[in-house]
Amino acid sequence: MAARRIAVMGAGYVGLTTAACFAHLGHQVTCVDVDAKRVAALSEAEVDQHEPRLAELVEESLRTGRLRFVVGVPANLSDVDFLFLAVPTPTGESGAADLSAVADVLTRTRERLPAGCVVVIKSTVPVGTTMRVTNLLARRDVTVVANPEFLREGHAVEDFLHPQRIVVGSEDEASALRVLSLYAGTDAPTVITGSASAELVKYASNCFLAMKLSYVNTLAELCEQAGADIEDVTAGMRLDERIGAAFLDPGPGWGGSCLPKDTKALLSTSDTLDVDFPLLRAAIDTNTHQVRRVAGKVRDAVGGSLRGVRIGVLGLTFKAGTDDLRDSPALAVAELLAAEGAELTGYDPCVPEGASPGPVRVVDTPQRAARDASAIVVLTEWPEFAALDWTQMAGQVRHPVVVDSRDLLPAEKVQAAGFRLIATGKPDTGT
Ligand code: UGA
Repeated sequence: MAARRIAVMGAGYVGLTTAACFAHLGHQVTCVDVDAKRVAALSEAEVDQHEPRLAELVEESLRTGRLRFVVGVPANLSDVDFLFLAVPTPTGESGAADLSAVADVLTRTRERLPAGCVVVIKSTVPVGTTMRVTNLLARRDVTVVANPEFLREGHAVEDFLHPQRIVVGSEDEASALRVLSLYAGTDAPTVITGSASAELVKYASNCFLAMKLSYVNTLAELCEQAGADIEDVTAGMRLDERIGAAFLDPGPGWGGSCLPKDTKALLSTSDTLDVDFPLLRAAIDTNTHQVRRVAGKVRDAVGGSLRGVRIGVLGLTFKAGTDDLRDSPALAVAELLAAEGAELTGYDPCVPEGASPGPVRVVDTPQRAARDASAIVVLTEWPEFAALDWTQMAGQVRHPVVVDSRDLLPAEKVQAAGFRLIATGKPDTGT
């Protein structure tokens, strides 16, 4: 494979993973960020994300000289073959994606890009953005390609090097093929299409996953009323290949830096294009409801009032396997409990003691989080919570009640330890 010169704008989890993985694949990569402290740390191979293998790849690529980090804009862009945009596209005021970071990079680079360079949009951007970027650039000798990322936090390197699909979209097919060639060696099925379709693949995928989860979360609520068991219901569903086995675990709602932002953005796009999308709206509303539902279960578990009541919180990140607290349903539940007067002590393997995310006082062991608690609530599916010695936990609490929003805990062990277990999507056994 021919090695190419790539500049990646943005050293967040998408940009840094993209840069380190392309360097690992043999390309010559410059990774650019506006944060000078971050660039200095990364240049010393100090990676602060909890992302398996990422630090190892950064270290390897710095050593081989295939990766370097730069603040602002590289002094020399004249030999760059590809400029990747991997800057944040947060939710703007209207719910639409805020593209100011993308516009900023273009302003700073457009006149310095060499003829024949391809600008590649990795950031998640609304349909039509590739066309807008093409117009903003106003360079006949530079083409623009949409190449969305499908990197799960906690699996980003694996997802990059062994992708389930590579999607490239452009009005210039030759440029799309050039971008595709960068991934030689990753051996994934590909979709080559126009830019609008490529942009939509990303939103369509994340929003579908969000709808799937909202569907399952409502099914779990239904199971509780119907005397059915969500685990058995989803076990039956998973065997249907058309439905698929993944993303059927109920929880306190979907969160993180992507699904909440992308559902809002696609809804905003469909509003703008005058297309009614009630399914997506319902998925978002259903998600807000989950957080209230879990908080309500905790309130019921302690007898109806949370005022002055101590609650032990297990799990704060938006899912297991990451240290990311952005848009975490766990924190949203905590906010609701605190608003009703609860005192929250929490434990999360990836959140250090002394941190105070929202209203939670973080301690360094699950046992300390449980101490004197009138109820425990499990909000993130860290496997270590299932493996806890629940008899020892029972010795810590004031009242042995646990609300398991993820159906993570081994019911028999927890109940044998004397806890009343309030599971999700299961008939209440009253034990
Ligand atoms: C998501 C997508 O899965 C990636 O494909 C995409 O590339 C990424 O967004 C992005 O746009 O960059 P991520 O934000 O890392 O990845 O999170 P997910 O693994 O999708 O989990 C999202 C939420 O769903 C979490 O809160 C998780 O706890 C919840 N979830 C997931 C469940 O409640 N149940 C499940 O069965 C699965």
